[in-house]
Amino acid sequence: MFYRSLIRPILFQQDPEQAHEGTIHLLETLTATQSELLRLAPVQTRAALQTEVAGIKFPNPVGLAAGFDKNGKALPFWHTCGFGFAEVGTITAQPQPGNPKPRVFRYPEQEAVVNRLGFNSEGAEVVAERIERVRRSGFPLPIPIGINIGKTKIVEGEEAVLEDYRAGFQRLAPLADFVTINVSSPNTPGLRLWQEKAKLSALLGMLAQEAKGLPQSVPLFLKIAPDMNQADMDDMIEVALENGLAGLIATNTTIAREGATANMESPGGLSGKPLCEKSLGVLRYLYRQSQGRLPIIGVGGINSAEAAYERIKAGASLVQVYTGMIYEGPFLPRQINSGLLRLMERDGVKSIAEAVGAESG
Ligand SMILES: Cc1cc2nc3c(=O)[nH]c(=O)nc-3n(C[C@H](O)[C@H](O)[C@H](O)COP(=O)(O)O)c2cc1C
Repeated sequence: MFYRSLIRPILFQQDPEQAHEGTIHLLETLTATQSELLRLAPVQTRAALQTEVAGIKFPNPVGLAAGFDKNGKALPFWHTCGFGFAEVGTITAQPQPGNPKPRVFRYPEQEAVVNRLGFNSEGAEVVAERIERVRRSGFPLPIPIGINIGKTKIVEGEEAVLEDYRAGFQRLAPLADFVTINVSSPNTPGLRLWQEKAKLSALLGMLAQEAKGLPQSVPLFLKIAPDMNQADMDDMIEVALENGLAGLIATNTTIAREGATANMESPGGLSGKPLCEKSLGVLRYLYRQSQGRLPIIGVGGINSAEAAYERIKAGASLVQVYTGMIYEGPFLPRQINSGLLRLMERDGVKSIAEAVGAESG
């Protein structure tokens, strides 16, 4: 209520990207001063919410989706919103500015966002040094941290792109609890071609090999687009399983505009409420086809406990939110977790693991 009636109107008077940058700057200051508030804020957890995926223990199943904290500036903050994990990035191996502004657009009536940021990133070195500083400082990072890596725009040619991903992975993976390989952003020309079977196999095979050389185990997740046909999704499952991936993240933003109104025609990836059904459909398909062999993180249009619960029952082992936070505010994860407990109790479900895929048919 407080967010919707007071904070949101102020934020929504500003350009979306400016409002976002301002918020991140504020949080960066809060975390840089190692505010006691962060240390005191408990991680939201209850026995029924705790879950283990890919050998990682999560205090609750609700995560911050990639793109919100692209450069890892507010890592010690995210648990205070109620998140059970946070994904940093997308980070490119080389620093790059992204596309020309304006490049983020809100559609309040549809509770949607269109973005064509194009991987604006400080680059692997700067972000790695920032995460190293936090980890070295001993300041608590009480939730698992995923790091999402993507392709540097100016790098072209298959071998060069593989080397680019390798460089980003080598610098960042040692600092991550899991790594997400992003081949699904619609805003980097040619990136989605890496979802094609032969290329994807080369990429995942190379990164899986790199991961084996790390001193600690770092599970790999593949983040996929919602705009694929079933044959492509089948290929993706096959390649992911062949290369020992820990799981999939479904989905990124969509380039489609079905169900969207005419004023949402600006190019870029659509997220939020209009993406909900589509992401859910992709998740259902992937879960059924992979027969539970690949854990899936469900993301796309989740803005309530009911939506999160539906996603989990359809086969998601964990969920993530981005656009829902813009419309519902920073305590959306807390509301989702409390609501999940209520819904699970209503249904006599004792754990998140028990709910996963319970209604996947
Ligand atoms: C402004 C914005 C920037 C994003 N940046 C990234 C990104 O850098 N990497 C990525 O994998 N996904 C990115 N995403 C996609 C989200 O992580 C998520 O997959 C998508 O928005 C669907 O979830 P939602 O409907 O809850 O927002 C971005 C989304 C938005 C709205």
